[in-house]
Amino acid sequence: MSLKVVILAAGKGTRMKSSMPKVLHCVANKPMVEHVVDAASSLGAQKTVLVVGHGADQVRATVTRKVEYVEQTEQLGTGHAVQQALPLLEPNDTVLIAYGDVPLTNPETFKQLIDDVTDTNIALLTVIMQDPTGYGRIVRDTAGNVQAIVEQKDATEAQLKICEGNTGILAARASALTELLGKIDNNNVQEEYYLTDIFELAVSQGMTITTHQPEHEWETAGVNSRQQMAELERIYQRTQAEKLMTAGVTLRDPARIDVRGNITVGQDSIIDVNCVFEGDVTIGESVIIGSNCFISNATIAAGTVIKANTVIEDSIVGENCTLGPFARLRPGAELTENAHIGNFVEIKKATIGKGSKVNHLSYVGDSTIGEGVNIGAGTITCNYDGANKHQTIIEDGVFIGSCTQLVAPVKIGKEAVIGAGSTITKEVAAGQLAFTRAPVKTVDNWPRPVKKKK
Ligand code: UD1
Ligand code: CA
Repeated sequence: MSLKVVILAAGKGTRMKSSMPKVLHCVANKPMVEHVVDAASSLGAQKTVLVVGHGADQVRATVTRKVEYVEQTEQLGTGHAVQQALPLLEPNDTVLIAYGDVPLTNPETFKQLIDDVTDTNIALLTVIMQDPTGYGRIVRDTAGNVQAIVEQKDATEAQLKICEGNTGILAARASALTELLGKIDNNNVQEEYYLTDIFELAVSQGMTITTHQPEHEWETAGVNSRQQMAELERIYQRTQAEKLMTAGVTLRDPARIDVRGNITVGQDSIIDVNCVFEGDVTIGESVIIGSNCFISNATIAAGTVIKANTVIEDSIVGENCTLGPFARLRPGAELTENAHIGNFVEIKKATIGKGSKVNHLSYVGDSTIGEGVNIGAGTITCNYDGANKHQTIIEDGVFIGSCTQLVAPVKIGKEAVIGAGSTITKEVAAGQLAFTRAPVKTVDNWPRPVKKKK
């Protein structure tokens, strides 16, 4: 069996009030349509076809996975949309139909439908709702077999009372879709080619329909407005928080964490409120993360403590390090175990050796810092000459006095000491003391200025 997934994504999304097509708006920082494309890929789809229309070029430019596109220039209905994809399918394919604005369907739910498909059976995802207003209604016979789907606008009073709604998500053999879609018309209130019309036709031809319900109703929720998108964002975040807690992570408040990517956290780690995680983040066991941290594409090893308001991007942090509060690791920062990075310290493209400390108000960029180094408050690696970046190398056991400027390229040898307030422009050899210091001048009985009387 070869699985192909067709994702409808041609709609404009008028209620979003946006210059961007609806399906490119993000849940968890990922375009909604990409959530669906990713689900298709996790199901092992051999081909994914996106039916695009409004903002087609923007969609093409945004989706990262390999998919195929068909353009539906006029939105004549969901049936018409699926028809556009038929030329890209083989008769024997099992076809899953999904929607670019329904981002959170669990792949397992899709799989139940796919598994049901035969040459003569179509599988449909339905949902029992308290208020099915707006949804197509599932019409069953007295034996419970699906007979048809009627759209809200075409339904009789009696049919409107049915609370089993059509999610629109279905799976069928491509040959069946081709045959049935070839027979639908647009003789209905909306004058659209309804995908839903294939069900009555299928039954009349002796085909069968099986149905499944999702585990959660939100799996089938579509987004038409920014409010609905925000609701799905909260649902998504809640499920991420649940997964972390199930894995043995303490969340000070599961309603105040945002995961916008893939995260794994070791057990007994504790995450305080308002932390945001982006991209691929791996956190070891017993890591403590204070409030308001932003961590993106990073690996944090076991036992590390990250204090409040720390920002970490594209960096690696070893075991038992201490960071923050208010520390910033920019791309390429690499801390070895037991390193300490304190408040208002910025590290960029630099390796900090085992047990080394940069505790206050410093900038360390394009540097290699050895083990057991102490960098005093206010130290700056002057790595940029206005045109090029240069390296600073500080060997093991060096002590850098406060407020030092290290003008790169420069190297400080093992165990050397730099006096406070120095501007170091040449290599300092191992074991040397180096300093540059203007002499202190004093003036006796200095008359301090006084405020003028008005
Ligand atoms: C559709 C179903 C309805 C179901 C509901 C669930 C039909 C006829 N009706 O109704 O039974 O309860 O979804 O939300 O299928 N699209 C295109 N091209 C088109 C038309 C639609 O790509 O020509 C896309 C839209 O962008 C949207 C999706 O298909 O993502 C559904 O279309 P929409 O018009 O919203 O269908 P509903 O009227 O909500
Ligand atoms: Ca809709």
